[in-house]
Amino acid sequence: MKQKIATIFGASGFIGRHLLRSLAEKDFRIVVATRSPYLNGHLKPLGNPGQIDLEKVNIYDEDNLRNLIKNSNLVINLIGILNQNSKQKFTNIHEKFPSLLSKICNEFNVEKFLHISALGVSHKINSKYMKSKLKGEEKIFENFRNSIILRPSIVFGPEDKFFNQFAFLSQFLPFLPLFGGGETKFQPVYVGDVVKSINAILDKEEIKANIYEIVGPEVYSFRELLEILLKTINRKRFFINVPFSVAKLQAFFMQLLPNPLLTPDQVEILKYDNVATGANPTLFDLDISPLTIESVLPDYIYRFRKGGEFS
Ligand SMILES: NC(=O)c1ccc[n+]([C@@H]2O[C@H](COP(=O)([O-])OP(=O)(O)OC[C@H]3O[C@@H](n4cnc5c(N)ncnc54)[C@H](OP(=O)(O)O)[C@@H]3O)[C@@H](O)[C@H]2O)c1
Repeated sequence: MKQKIATIFGASGFIGRHLLRSLAEKDFRIVVATRSPYLNGHLKPLGNPGQIDLEKVNIYDEDNLRNLIKNSNLVINLIGILNQNSKQKFTNIHEKFPSLLSKICNEFNVEKFLHISALGVSHKINSKYMKSKLKGEEKIFENFRNSIILRPSIVFGPEDKFFNQFAFLSQFLPFLPLFGGGETKFQPVYVGDVVKSINAILDKEEIKANIYEIVGPEVYSFRELLEILLKTINRKRFFINVPFSVAKLQAFFMQLLPNPLLTPDQVEILKYDNVATGANPTLFDLDISPLTIESVLPDYIYRFRKGGEFS
């Protein structure tokens, strides 16, 4: 039987790298569509010899996308950005590209199209990130009716942005900031469980739902997340309450940095709880019991402990 082809966009990112390893076990031939094939050669050994190909992609070039998609059975889009700049705009990355990609998937009768969006997408939140993610979802459903969209909460695991960034800051700051008092609630999910959810969706012939909210088993406030982190790395730090108005002013200047801790757009997102709505199925509906932060975090955050892993 002919081997099925999976084309993955954004496979070189945090979630993508974890996904590649498990997709390779599924006996797909995998095409990784990346801007930098020569810088991502390290992805090839995640599969068997010859199983993973790296192809250069320009997400604005329709012909390039058609060539990549035309023989694909499965297409997964993990491309996303947290901050925009002069070259990378939310509308292009989260809206126009998914729209074009889903249109081309429909044209070539791709069997399954999976897209990673974000939990809490809404037009009500005054955030360009959230609005662009939601518009992208709407375009996808117009173009490819049976698309499956995953909306993850904060994703944690080795190389995550949330815990690693605050652990890094705690190495030299005597305090950590509690934006808006640290009361906003989150339901972080382990990257391995995000990967499991994608696998479960691929394994099921008939998927009834189109949108899944990918969340962990527990709800925590921002403050509680920082407390768990500090306990795990065995450090004591003061918390400083930073009201949203002050955070927004600080973020205005921070956004000029190459990898800002906070942008004004993220401050708007932080004003709203980011937890499952109850309106869409979750990991439990896919028979997955998600792992808690406490059971995974110590395994990868130990390098930030004072004195190292065995201190
Ligand atoms: N991580 C989280 O906590 C989280 C939470 C909710 C939702 N999500 C969503 O999940 C998806 C994956 O997240 P992640 O954390 O794995 O992201 P990531 O580590 O930042 O990776 C982003 C990927 O997007 C690709 N990319 C960015 N701009 C591109 C462009 N102009 N052309 C082609 N490729 C481009 C990058 O590929 P190259 O540089 O190799 O080309 C990279 O592989 C994103 O859509 C994100 O919004 C993530």
